[in-house]
Amino acid sequence: MSRVALVTGGTRGIGAAISMALHNAGYKVAATYAGNEEKARAFHDVTGISVHKWDVTDYEGCGKGIAKIEHDLGHVDILVNNAGITRDAMFHKMTPQQWHEVINTNLTGLFNMTHHVWQGMRDRSFGRVINISSINGQKGQMGQANYSAAKAGDLGFTKALAQEGAAKNITVNAICPGYIGTEMVLAVPEKVLNERIIPQIPVGRLGEPEEIARIAVFLASDDAGFITGSTITANGGQLFV
Ligand code: CAA
Repeated sequence: MSRVALVTGGTRGIGAAISMALHNAGYKVAATYAGNEEKARAFHDVTGISVHKWDVTDYEGCGKGIAKIEHDLGHVDILVNNAGITRDAMFHKMTPQQWHEVINTNLTGLFNMTHHVWQGMRDRSFGRVINISSINGQKGQMGQANYSAAKAGDLGFTKALAQEGAAKNITVNAICPGYIGTEMVLAVPEKVLNERIIPQIPVGRLGEPEEIARIAVFLASDDAGFITGSTITANGGQLFV
């Protein structure tokens, strides 16, 4: 029987590419989205992948949503914590709201989701947790004190949980994408993107969501069973770690 994969923020950007790649690899896939109903419906219509609306900052909502997916599709074997937002501002202009929204979604969202699937993975002695962090969690980024802090936190979460999951055949890994051509990156002011960011990428282009999705498919597979606690970096040479 095919395994079940749940992808947060799985109807747009990198998440959509991961949902589709897992679907094409034979997994039963469920994708969550927080707000963009129209994009989610269109994604479902094109791919046939089931889409579910909840906010990863809501612990109870995550529990209810996961229970429904497990009832409909089966136990979640693979969780991809991809949902993320930006609220970029220089620190001297950053509001407490901008700080908390990003921490709650990009860091606490991982707790809220993973906590509800963890015991089941332990009981069944199989699991794959794949956390989408960022190059900016590795190197820090001006204008992103909130985002960089959350994404660095995701790496600590990954390494701690990998140690807890290892004896139960649950792997926990992080992917750190560089700048990928998604709505999130294209929302950066054009001048900043063209003059400040792209020139820092040695391959001379933005990445493609599918280039991240292929890593997620590998980490989800049985072939990746010895890889845990790792950070896989894919950034076009912008940062070597
Ligand atoms: N890299 C290098 N320089 C940057 C920069 C960046 N990413 N972002 C801003 N700067 C520079 C600007 O070019 C500008 O320099 P000059 O004064 O010499 O021209 C200076 O910082 C101040 O920037 P702004 O004039 O734009 O200041 P602002 O207060 O109007 O806006 C900002 C600040 C909201 C941070 C805006 O500059 C911005 O959105 N920058 C992009 C920040 C960024 O890189 N975000 C990544 C989003 S994509 C993502 O997060 C996905 C991922 O995981 C990689």
